[in-house]
Amino acid sequence: MSTSRIGLIGTGNIGRTHLTSLASLRHSGLLDVDISAICDIDEDAMQQAAELFDVPVTYKDFKDLVVDETVDIVYICAPTNKHGSMVKAAAKAKKPLFCEKPLARSWPQASELMGVTKDAGVSSGVGLVLRYDQFLLHAKKLIETNDFGQPMLAHIRDDQRFPVDHVQYSKWRGDRSIAGGGTLIEHSIHDIDVLGWFFGTIESVYARINYFAGKKVEDQASLVLTHEGGAVSTLDSIWHCVERPNERMIELFFEKGFISIRLESDKRVLDYQLQGAGPVRVWEETANLALLETLGVHSKNLSLESVETLTSVGAERYAALSYAFLKSIQSGTEPFPSFRDAVTAHKVVDAAYDSASKNQCVDLL
Ligand SMILES: NC(=O)c1ccc[n+]([C@@H]2O[C@H](COP(=O)([O-])OP(=O)(O)OC[C@H]3O[C@@H](n4cnc5c(N)ncnc54)[C@H](O)[C@@H]3O)[C@@H](O)[C@H]2O)c1
Repeated sequence: MSTSRIGLIGTGNIGRTHLTSLASLRHSGLLDVDISAICDIDEDAMQQAAELFDVPVTYKDFKDLVVDETVDIVYICAPTNKHGSMVKAAAKAKKPLFCEKPLARSWPQASELMGVTKDAGVSSGVGLVLRYDQFLLHAKKLIETNDFGQPMLAHIRDDQRFPVDHVQYSKWRGDRSIAGGGTLIEHSIHDIDVLGWFFGTIESVYARINYFAGKKVEDQASLVLTHEGGAVSTLDSIWHCVERPNERMIELFFEKGFISIRLESDKRVLDYQLQGAGPVRVWEETANLALLETLGVHSKNLSLESVETLTSVGAERYAALSYAFLKSIQSGTEPFPSFRDAVTAHKVVDAAYDSASKNQCVDLL
């Protein structure tokens, strides 16, 4: 197994999360991975990260990082409006790349980036990390192995503390020209991805958005989505100013079954019920098995540290995402989730903004 030598651009919030995850993957022996270089325009942030993660080379200009011969794979963790030029530079250097979500500020920009990576023949993964949430993976498995019947209705309520003024977040999220929008594109692109993943192609969208806080980015978005086959899903996304844990409530109704998943708070749990049977509650230890199975590993062959690296709540779900991404690069298979998945979600996001501005339903077919 050859070493995956990584160059990471953007050592802020998510960049450090990835550095932590990659370091855990290396320390636990799960992957032979090295952080060869990092890049940031903020010299202090970069030097701190270099010391903390023992990174030998630092760059102020990402164009130098992508052509560094000790960098085989590029991670892009800068603010959203910077992703385009970084993806293009990495693709030009013929390096496989991982880019954080949202890929871009709009669907056409995201599609262009997918085209660029395809033309360059480089593999590209994206930070739609809920694809590696153990409870969602457990739900997928339940649906595959039981007769839930036709999907009918999904609902996600996703609330987050306003990430602009909150001390641990970054000011750029209040700037539409950098972020592309507010709670819908910046946070709930994850939810749209999940809804499409569970209920299939989204064919139409009707949306209302609001700017209650008077900022340039929306802090509330409500969407009604119609899926192929007729199922409907609704999404309520909100950035508020209440001191409470960020929480994602997901409810999936089928003809013969119901699943609810509570994520992101201190009480993560899945409940389900099938026709003719009583309610069942699933805790993390059980759900973790679905994640390990998805990653193609078995807990009995792993050290406790390795299992914890891949399954722990919070930042470490990014370890599972990176593990899957780097394994796909090693084996030459398409990363999951890929730029294609991100572009699909971006199309719905753009349609929702369009619907809200016209106050009418927008068809996506
Ligand atoms: N997948 C997820 O769940 C998730 C979570 C958080 C953030 N994100 C995404 O990750 C991206 C970054 O978000 P963040 O919260 O880490 O932001 P951040 O502001 O905390 O960090 C961004 C870093 O990029 C650096 N940077 C800016 N321009 C640069 C350039 N030209 N070259 C090199 N470095 C540059 C900044 O100095 C900063 O250190 C955003 O697109 C965001 O939407 C994804």
